[in-house]
Amino acid sequence: MKFKTLVIKGGTKLKGKVSVSGSKNATLPIMAASLLGETPSVINNIPLVRDIYTMAELLKILGAKVEIKNHSILIDPSKIKNYKAPYEIVKQMRASIYVLGPLVARCRKAKVAMPGGCAIGLRPIDLHIKGIKKLGAKIKIKHGYVIAEAQKLKGTKIIFDKISLGATINCLLAAVKAEGTSIFENASKEPEVVDTIKFLKMMGADIKGEGTSTLIINGVKNLTGVSGYTVIPDRIEAATLIAAAVMTKSKVTIENFIPENLTVFFEKLREAGAKFEIKNNSVKVLPYKGKLKAVDIITEPYPGFPTDIQAQWMALMTIAQGNSIIKETIWENRFMHVLELNRMGADIKIEGNTAIVTGVDELSAADVMASDLRASAALIIAGLKAKGVTYIRRIYHLERGYENFYNKLKKLGAKIKIIMENII
Ligand code: UD1
Repeated sequence: MKFKTLVIKGGTKLKGKVSVSGSKNATLPIMAASLLGETPSVINNIPLVRDIYTMAELLKILGAKVEIKNHSILIDPSKIKNYKAPYEIVKQMRASIYVLGPLVARCRKAKVAMPGGCAIGLRPIDLHIKGIKKLGAKIKIKHGYVIAEAQKLKGTKIIFDKISLGATINCLLAAVKAEGTSIFENASKEPEVVDTIKFLKMMGADIKGEGTSTLIINGVKNLTGVSGYTVIPDRIEAATLIAAAVMTKSKVTIENFIPENLTVFFEKLREAGAKFEIKNNSVKVLPYKGKLKAVDIITEPYPGFPTDIQAQWMALMTIAQGNSIIKETIWENRFMHVLELNRMGADIKIEGNTAIVTGVDELSAADVMASDLRASAALIIAGLKAKGVTYIRRIYHLERGYENFYNKLKKLGAKIKIIMENII
């Protein structure tokens, strides 16, 4: 079978301006939320990445009319007739589980394949199930499917055992149409949850507390579609581009994102000695003198350091002065980029959920393999700096979540190309 391989000649400085695409992690729950409307919704600024096409496919299977034009998607849920999300789709993308809440709310029934684990960890859904059960659904797991039924959903109090973006979304998408008031404690504060709530409120939902850990939801009978909602920019793509510019000591302006959503990342960059100027919705990265300083991070739910930037941060730290300790608290297996970075001359050791990175003078190009979405980004950042030509195999992972990424880097002057290779 032929696969795309990304080839990067390292050592080139980047230059110019680049614009950030819409947020994948906000678009996916908003697409699921649109299922709750009586009328069609149009969502703008969507990133054209594989996960979005997979969600579009799933909504079509459920009976929605879906049309993607440029960076907008129209979703007409008025003829939803099917309540089954098949395994063939769910296995491609875990966010498919977001349809569980809206299907129960809309069809009174849902049958969604269990997503199972993935490369970065076990990724359980017990909190989603517990919450939707508490809202009054009867749920059983049979033949690999979560089967939920509810004649009526009723407002309730849900205290999430752990902060979970996915569980907050799923329970929210059920509670907005439940009878009475729901109170969620220990809810996710991620900007993508806040964006989803903004969309739901435009549909007519009654939700208070977005951006805090307590959400108060007064159920409503009907929700209508939103005729033009603009999704927030992708903070993870922004951070990845910033990391690429810092790594290569380049002068690059990253435009069209919300810097406040990356506050911790910027604090850490400043600590490391990177130079940059933040304006309203952009940042200008400037070359710094000497080496970056090693800076420790711990991944945590928002507003902590995002797990989705851990791999990219690690790539930066490979050439920093000193030792940095990187602790991953969200996903137990999210260190698969470590061995690949070590193949490029990095010095990283893993102890449980902690990676100890000892900065080296330079990285050297190598043949490496991408294991997941953010690992691909880390390898690109390393490849842009490494001496020689790096081949990154299985780059299809990148296409799940980064729109047009190689072209964006190419426009900034990176020596980067895609080749097709036979992989056995
Ligand atoms: C998480 C990240 C999100 C990131 C995404 C992909 C957080 C809070 N969320 O979202 O920023 O974009 O991964 O990398 O950082 N958990 C349970 N039971 C459940 C659900 C989750 O135990 O039912 C646990 C998970 O194992 C994990 C933690 O809760 O340790 C957070 O998971 P969750 O936020 O639900 O994952 P995603 O929604 O995928």
